[in-house]
Order: sequence, then structure tokens, then C-alpha cells
Amino acid sequence: MLPELVTSIPGPESLRLAARLKEVECRNTTYLSPDWPVFWERAEGVNVWDADGNRLLDFTSAFGVATLGHGFSAKAVAEQSGLLVHAMGDVHPARLKVELCERLSAITFERWTGEKGKTLLGNSGFEAVEAALKTAVMVTGRSGILSFEGAYHGLGYGALLGAGIEWFRAPFEKQLSDVTRRLPFPKLGDYESWNGILTALQSVDPSAIGAVLVEPMQGRGGIVIPPVEFLCELRSWCDEHAVVLILDEIYTGLNRTGKPFGCDWSDTVPDLICLGKSLSGGFPISACVGKASIMDAWPETHGEALHTSTFLGNPLGCAMAIASLETHADPVTTRLAWDRGNDMGAAFRELCDEPFVAEWRGVGLMQAIELRHADGRPAGDVCIDLVKGLLKDGILVLPDAPEGHVLALTPPLGISDEEIAFVVERIRVRLRELGGISS
Ligand SMILES: Cc1ncc(COP(=O)(O)O)c(C=O)c1O
Repeated sequence: MLPELVTSIPGPESLRLAARLKEVECRNTTYLSPDWPVFWERAEGVNVWDADGNRLLDFTSAFGVATLGHGFSAKAVAEQSGLLVHAMGDVHPARLKVELCERLSAITFERWTGEKGKTLLGNSGFEAVEAALKTAVMVTGRSGILSFEGAYHGLGYGALLGAGIEWFRAPFEKQLSDVTRRLPFPKLGDYESWNGILTALQSVDPSAIGAVLVEPMQGRGGIVIPPVEFLCELRSWCDEHAVVLILDEIYTGLNRTGKPFGCDWSDTVPDLICLGKSLSGGFPISACVGKASIMDAWPETHGEALHTSTFLGNPLGCAMAIASLETHADPVTTRLAWDRGNDMGAAFRELCDEPFVAEWRGVGLMQAIELRHADGRPAGDVCIDLVKGLLKDGILVLPDAPEGHVLALTPPLGISDEEIAFVVERIRVRLRELGGISS
């Protein structure tokens, strides 16, 4: 269903809500520029309705969460909410926690190696990353982390250690210990930097490093796709130096890239994988899943868990994640993500000759167009104007990359050809307007 080219965005009710929120929420949280606020009322499939009744086409999957479509696991949560909404996660857990951990094992390590995977559940994505970093210390006794420029692993203090976007780290640097070594993240097709990164990797002193923390493809960093050899090289390096390889698949995991996981593109098996976002499709639940032999570095608990939280294994989240994993594990879902990604790629590549478009890139349903000025400068200013213009057209998209010059295109996999064509056309029109060219 196409939006009706609404022009009343932001609508009066959203503007009223923005004014109220401004009074009571920390000002560094919600972006409330006068041309921006859209408060959501309901959502279904690829559509969102705002507080003014406008229907918008969601090309973000709401931060990559609604891969299976908005409301996908609503039935599961409705059924579960009549039974049990909270249990005592690490003391008297919900029955569903068992099934969720079994499914996580089946879709990851059992599928890759036949060996069972063991899970540490969390709430937000960053908690899964922090659980993985703690696990690496348990395994190796070493606190050092090797991470990558442009990396985004969430904003908790542990996850910030791996952050490769300085802006997020800088204000808190003094409270972060100096345990991280960062390398550039390679970009597919950039052979010169790839060779440099390989050399830099070989020159890293591994003696203090316990973990390599990496996204198979960078999301917030600007939808950056590395060569397939990248993860293979990291795997070999980790094996050689007995370092734990942590793949942060919070964004790329579960069919976002046209494969079940980003690492399936390079047939690389991690030691630990972090999942969140579309794991539940809308409930704050995350997971750090590891090879059983790695996870067993944690000692048995005698009643006081070393790593836990009040809402660990929340039954509503478990019910949603089980429903979502059932569909994600079906090869038909992966096939659909692959096909939709191919169709999307073919359509968006047509924009390569439009003003400011430096490049199209992507895999599966994780695509982007990079915008640059004629002199090569990243066009973050154009990208934000484009995003705001598209919002007026009823299309939700977001800028990515530290300079904000990458338009991320990450819709749910139920997106139709007609909707893709509509978005391509609106981007074309808006780019021409911004470039001063009549369509
Ligand atoms: C790759 C990656 N890791 C971790 C996170 C953090 O997840 P959360 O915001 O749920 O803490 C994100 C969020 O965008 C992400 O993209």
C-alpha cells in the first residue's frame, strides 16, 4: 500500500506531543526539531500510523527490529500476556526460557557445527555485547579488545569500549578503561585499504587481547560491507592467538542480509554471537550465544549468578522471540529476504546517476546510497534534507555513518515491488530538487 503523499507531516498532534515531551524528557534523547516529530500510534507490516492518522511506509524496520514486519509477534505476546508477564529469570524462570535457548542453539551453533550453543539472555542489544565481553575475559583472562573504526555496539559502558564512532565515546572516555585497540573496517572493493588492514592486523600485539569484537557488516557505521575474506582472516587470527571472536549480529542477524546471519556470507563460525533487534521483533530481549565449550568458562552458579538482571528471560520477550525464530529458521524466510534484497538492489542502483549519489551498496535488506558533494565531501547536509523531504512524502528512512551522509534502506521483508518503486521515485524527485535539477 503506497502512502498518499501526505504533506501534513509533522501533524498538529505530533507537534503538541513534542512540546509536552520537551518539558519532561532529558533533552539529549528524542530529536525534536520542528520539522521532524512523528509520534507513532500503531503499526502493521511495513506501515506505521502516526498520532495524526498519517500512514507512513517504514523503510527502517524501526532500527532493524521489524524484519518480519510490524506486529509479527503480536499474537504470541497477546497469548502470553494472559498467562505470565514476568518470572524470576535466574531463580525460578519461565518455562519458555528453556525453549528460547534451545531454539537459539539450533539456529546458530547446532546448524553450523553440530555442537550445542549456550545462551546468556539480556534486555538491550548492548547487554548482549557486554555479556560477550565478560565471557571473553572468563575464557582468556585477558581484558584487551580489538574492535573497528565505525563500529556501533550500543552505548552501555562495556559496549562503548568497542565503539568506533568517537562521538559516542568521547564524553565518557575518562570512565572507560584503555583496553581497546581499533583497526579500520575494510570496505568491499577498496583493495588498498584491505591490504593495509591485513598488515595492521598482523602487527597487533595479541598478548593482552582477549576478544575481537566486530559486526560482519557495519550498520550504524554507514552500511559498510567488507570483503568476504575479512571474517575468515579474523577467525584465523583469533585461532592463532587463542582470542575469542565475538560477532555482533544485533543488526545483521536473522535474515537481514539475505542469509540467516551475516557470518553465513563467509562461512565463518564465531565463538560468540550477539543478537537483539529482530530476535523478538519488538520486545527488549537480546542474547549472547556461544559455543558450549566457550560458554562453559563461566563457573556453575551456586545461587548467586555473576551476570543476570531482574527481567532476564522475560516470558513476553521469550514468547515473541520463539515466534520470530520459528519463522527466521525457515529457509523460505531466508529465500524471501534474498529475493527481496535482489529486487531492491536492482531498483535502487538506478539512482546511481542522480545528483549527490556516490554509490549504492548493500546485501539483502540492508542497503544504502552514499551521498557526496561534487568535491567528494560527505553530503550529510543533503542526506538530512532528503530524509526530511521523504518524511513529508510519508516515507521513513534514516541517515547513517558518522558524517550522516549515507541513506540507509532497511525495510521489512514484506516490502512490495510497488512500494520499492515508489520510494526510488520519491528519492529521485527529492535528490533532483536538492540538486537544483527539474525532474
Ligand atoms: C550492531 C549493533 N550492536 C549493538 C546495538 C545496540 O543495541 P541496543 O540499542 O538494543 O542496545 C546496535 C543498535 O543499533 C547495533 O546496530
